[in-house]
Amino acid sequence: MTQPGPLQGKVALVTGASRGIGRAVALRLAQAGARVGVNYRSSRQAAEAVDQAIRDAGSEALLLSADVSNASQVQAIFQELEQAWGGVDILVNNAGLTRDSLLLRMSEEDWDAVLDTNLKGAFLCSKAAARTMVRKRWGRIINISSVIGLAGNPGQANYAASKAGLLGLTRTLARELASRNITVNAVAPGFIDTAMVASLSEEAKAQVRARIPMDRFGTPDDVAAVVAFLATSEAAYVTGQVIGIDGGIAL
Ligand SMILES: NC(=O)c1ccc[n+]([C@@H]2O[C@H](COP(=O)([O-])OP(=O)(O)OC[C@H]3O[C@@H](n4cnc5c(N)ncnc54)[C@H](O)[C@@H]3O)[C@@H](O)[C@H]2O)c1
Repeated sequence: MTQPGPLQGKVALVTGASRGIGRAVALRLAQAGARVGVNYRSSRQAAEAVDQAIRDAGSEALLLSADVSNASQVQAIFQELEQAWGGVDILVNNAGLTRDSLLLRMSEEDWDAVLDTNLKGAFLCSKAAARTMVRKRWGRIINISSVIGLAGNPGQANYAASKAGLLGLTRTLARELASRNITVNAVAPGFIDTAMVASLSEEAKAQVRARIPMDRFGTPDDVAAVVAFLATSEAAYVTGQVIGIDGGIAL
């Protein structure tokens, strides 16, 4: 008989889980035994493929369509999770987007779009998740920040501010929720090989790579492995931390 996974009996929600890092995290949590709510915004077909992959891994998935920046849509998916599986134990705030341009050319719309998804989305989901986690006296919230949130990056004022904001959110929620046995941590990936990085020019990619001591871009699985560890009971005494997953680029 196979051993039960470390997340057997747990319910996870991964936002923006239809592709890239979110997809890898959803699969990894499922492989560890969790049932996984797969949030997606518009790509139903891609989300269905994640659903199938989770079933193939021997777990269960629930497809949850919502824009994480929309409070009533967020409320609806948490209600659905509550009804289906009794609420969430593990929340991974992964949904994110970029709208890059230099400050003098950055529109208010592009500022708002990035802050609304990357930071407000994490606030709305964390608030909804914390209600259940406080009741269960167990919980894990893991925010996907970025090295850009630590160091800044020309052309990404909105993105860097959102990812730095996530660190303040992480540390504050860690303090607020620690006594309820809920840990809140962030990871700060470097350059990970997903659609987000694929949009860079070859020249920009070569320049970035030259700065990575490990001389390669990360994979979505590199990130998923650390997130899955933070979700387990083995990481019970880790809270309010920011863990770099960047091949050494932030050194
Ligand atoms: N790829 C990298 O190098 C890198 C590095 C550091 C941090 N990150 C972060 O990791 C996370 C995942 O990025 P990725 O590289 O997989 O990018 P991606 O663009 O492939 O995936 C992002 C996902 O978020 C979803 N999403 C966007 N806005 C949403 C909204 N309002 N509501 C619900 N879902 C929404 C998208 O549909 C997509 O599925 C993001 O938060 C990103 O900022 C990525």
